[in-house]
Amino acid sequence: MKFFVDTADIDAIAELNALGMVDGVTTNPSLILKSGRDILEVTKEICDMVSGPVSAEVIALDADDMIAEGRKLAEIAENIAVKVPLTWDGLKACKVLSSEGRMVNVTLCFSANQALLAAKAGATFISPFIGRLDDLNVDGMELIADIRQIYDNYGFETQILAASIRTANHMSEAAKIGADVATAPPAVIKAMASHVLTDKGLDQFVKDAAQAGIKIV
Ligand code: E4P
Repeated sequence: MKFFVDTADIDAIAELNALGMVDGVTTNPSLILKSGRDILEVTKEICDMVSGPVSAEVIALDADDMIAEGRKLAEIAENIAVKVPLTWDGLKACKVLSSEGRMVNVTLCFSANQALLAAKAGATFISPFIGRLDDLNVDGMELIADIRQIYDNYGFETQILAASIRTANHMSEAAKIGADVATAPPAVIKAMASHVLTDKGLDQFVKDAAQAGIKIV
């Protein structure tokens, strides 16, 4: 499973990128707001740092304007994936932009039917939002499993990009189901390294090493 980082925070991306953990980046208007940066400027900086797909989201609501915005975003760099919402207009924009050879990430997906439509419209990525479904007491992982089954049934090449990931557990669950990609905030990716038994075991090893007077370098 590929790891995308769900942030527009340059320093956080750089830290994970240095560890080889970044296969791509996703942003959205809320993350751009949080960064306090200009969308074109910060997205260019991310694209210069990361070789994988970098999702940049349109803000228009009608298809023609989304297409114009998508073309402008795609000019930033070759690795831009234009992010469009899963609306009827978004699907129209997806069809046009993907036919022009651009990567398209269809976002705000909350049902298997929406994912089926996105695949038919030529989406490169479909982004089902796990956490926001969980917030409503709906199992977001079931949606990932349903989409996996549907795409496999018919050989759709659209990649399932598990989004709205809130916990480290979400990452392993998405990987078990077979999501192609998961996008998560930097803190969630870092949390994947944590285990209480690792901390406990290390604490004991440190104490024993001191008692034994172990010195290596
Ligand atoms: C993905 O592309 C979205 O930007 C993101 O995962 C949304 O996550 P949230 O529901 O935590 O805002």
